[in-house]
Amino acid sequence: MSAVMQNPAKISSEPFLNKVAKSFGAASDSYIQGARLQQQVALDALALLPKQPYGHLLDLGCGPGWLHPRLIQHCQKLTAIDLSAGMLARAAQANIASQYLQADAQQLPLADASVDNVFSSLMLQWCKEPVAVFTEVARVLKPGGTVVMTTLVDGTLGELRQAFAALDNRQHVNHFLPPDALRQAASKVSGMQWQFEQRRYPLYYPNVQAIARELKTLGANQVAGRQAGGLTGKGYWQRLAEVYAQHRTVLGLPASYQVVVISGVKHGN
Ligand SMILES: C[S@@+](CC[C@H](N)C(=O)[O-])C[C@H]1O[C@@H](n2cnc3c(N)ncnc32)[C@H](O)[C@@H]1O
Repeated sequence: MSAVMQNPAKISSEPFLNKVAKSFGAASDSYIQGARLQQQVALDALALLPKQPYGHLLDLGCGPGWLHPRLIQHCQKLTAIDLSAGMLARAAQANIASQYLQADAQQLPLADASVDNVFSSLMLQWCKEPVAVFTEVARVLKPGGTVVMTTLVDGTLGELRQAFAALDNRQHVNHFLPPDALRQAASKVSGMQWQFEQRRYPLYYPNVQAIARELKTLGANQVAGRQAGGLTGKGYWQRLAEVYAQHRTVLGLPASYQVVVISGVKHGN
């Protein structure tokens, strides 16, 4: 089995990264059963990867590696990187990638021009500095190399944010960047040609608790800047459910996810 190379020292120096890594690690066993959105988004994005199995592919923010049986069909060598040791350990059980590296996408432990293609699904929204991720991706790509990334943007979980806002003014839902901020960040990285496309994925739930439960199952329940305490009491959830109910459709309670698909090619060849 390929070894998981851990680098906890660098990660634990940043409190939010540390929390994100721990939350995802704790969810490494339950993740796949809650990952409806993640599966739809990644499988749609996969269609944009070069079809021929060639070269070295990097899966950045690989999670539990559920996509690796498919990703390996697009390359000769797969490297899996994730912030969370728990997620990597889970991915490494399938032993599909050549290496499993614990690292922050904003500081990749890979040499310049060492990768032919990069794939990254629903990882970027966890990074405070998207420009650092774009810069690192451009650095490790070989000339002519490509990247396909997906991320969540402003408008995601808008119904939930609105319902919470009717109850108090604390931050309960993560802040997602507007697509223009991502475009601007990408435009700062020279030597790459970028393309952006926005897609909306509506998901439906029986009740608001099911939405919160799913976020926890996925490990996606860390909110940057959220104060401790808050979300307590039956009464609070009851009121939240009443406010959210105004959005109910015949399919259930909707939660909208706004996804941006970013594709890039590195100049030269
Ligand atoms: C929503 S999951 C997506 C996993 C997988 N790509 C998928 O599509 O199912 C996000 C993953 O990104 C990882 N992650 C978050 N921030 C990261 C960072 N700064 N660098 C590397 N990985 C990160 C998390 O640990 C988690 O495994």
